[in-house]
Amino acid sequence: MDQLIISEGGALSGEVEVSGAKNAALPVLCASLLTAHPLTLDNVPDLRDVSTLLRLLRNMGVDTERTQHRVRLSAEGVHQTVAPYDLVKTMRASILVLGPLLARFGQARVSLPGGCAIGERPVDLHIKGLQAMGARIEIAHGDIVAEAKRLKGARIFMDTVTVTGTENLMMAATLADGVTVLENAAREPEVADLAHCLNAMGARIRGHGTDVITIEGVQALQGAQYRVMPDRIETGTFLVAAAATGGDVRLLGVQPGSMDAVLDKLTEANAQVTCSAGQIHLRMRGPNHGVSLRTAPYPAFPTDMQAQFMAMNAVAQGTTVITETIFENRFMHVQELRRLGANIEVEGNAAIIRGVNRLQGATVMATDLRASASLVIAGLIARGETIVDRIYHLDRGYEKIEQKLSQLGAHIRRHSREDS
Ligand code: EPZ
Repeated sequence: MDQLIISEGGALSGEVEVSGAKNAALPVLCASLLTAHPLTLDNVPDLRDVSTLLRLLRNMGVDTERTQHRVRLSAEGVHQTVAPYDLVKTMRASILVLGPLLARFGQARVSLPGGCAIGERPVDLHIKGLQAMGARIEIAHGDIVAEAKRLKGARIFMDTVTVTGTENLMMAATLADGVTVLENAAREPEVADLAHCLNAMGARIRGHGTDVITIEGVQALQGAQYRVMPDRIETGTFLVAAAATGGDVRLLGVQPGSMDAVLDKLTEANAQVTCSAGQIHLRMRGPNHGVSLRTAPYPAFPTDMQAQFMAMNAVAQGTTVITETIFENRFMHVQELRRLGANIEVEGNAAIIRGVNRLQGATVMATDLRASASLVIAGLIARGETIVDRIYHLDRGYEKIEQKLSQLGAHIRRHSREDS
């Protein structure tokens, strides 16, 4: 398993280009199943999760061709509508094939995604919504077995705001008979990005980006060429790394409008943040201040950014509180940050962070994607050397992270360990 070896360094500085959004690319790749015509996607990030999903789609008979950040897909020859456990267990977002398969082929067998490090992560709302659209669904031997001659438009109230739940139902509704209204829908920019791609394919979706999305079903969708939005979480991660190291960085190819809550918190942390077309420039006005925050669905502060801010808070003056309201177990990074000398107590879904002068380098273990990013940020500001183990978690969601951070002046290298 690979490790990242990070040595104590100075402030990050310079500029770097961010990649396409993982959480927009994954649903958009699944949208290829909705049509027999070719779908060409640009700005698709080169990530482990993307490779996993392409393997799953090929397994069904989708033709896929990838050159750099361009992916061409054709689902004309799909010969099986099954997503097996051995692929789904490595990436929960595979559940996003369920809606498209059901809508286009009238049947699907998708392994129930298990839980993961950050929580149980049920998919009951995906299933409930599809049943409301007329699907017959049962759970058999760990699989979701679904069928529907033709889905029917329905009004669906989502009990909980769910990003992939909204995406699954929105895709299914594009080919349903009649109009579907999703209420209490997720407003994340990645949901809107998917809707833009679907509309480019001939879907009739409106209200995306708000909590009421209306989808008028059509008979068939066409192919399209679509460019995936930039990754706002990768952007936020690099900005926090710059803030924590007292840096001065410019990020290129970004979408500032998709991250107001994060930029506000960085400003509160004593950063000067300047946004222009496709760029964000961050310069620290002085030592970073700690910021308390509370995660919630978009446009509030994103849960995918709380671990990164916790690393920054670990060495800020004073005491801060981070409250996680989306997932029940998203503090796996706390015990690892403690190994680096952080002073953090957890009480229920709140972490109380008391800033210390310096963190001390040590060997730590990545447990999930964003926890890994938190440990990398901590390594950048710790005294001595920090080794982050099991970084396959990191490779799921960050493209070439060590190259990008090195470009900003970080002392970081990858060490491949054959033995484990
Ligand atoms: C998406 O996960 C993202 N993944 C996650 O990013 C992100 O953390 C999460 O949204 C929240 O923003 C992708 O988009 C691929 P949810 P998702 O359904 O859709 C409960 C990362 O780091 N829920 O919005 O799986 C659920 O338990 C990843 O890039 C139900 O109860 O999250 C959670 O408490 C991690 N029933 C809450 O809703 C359901 O049927 C929000 O989960 C579905 C969800």
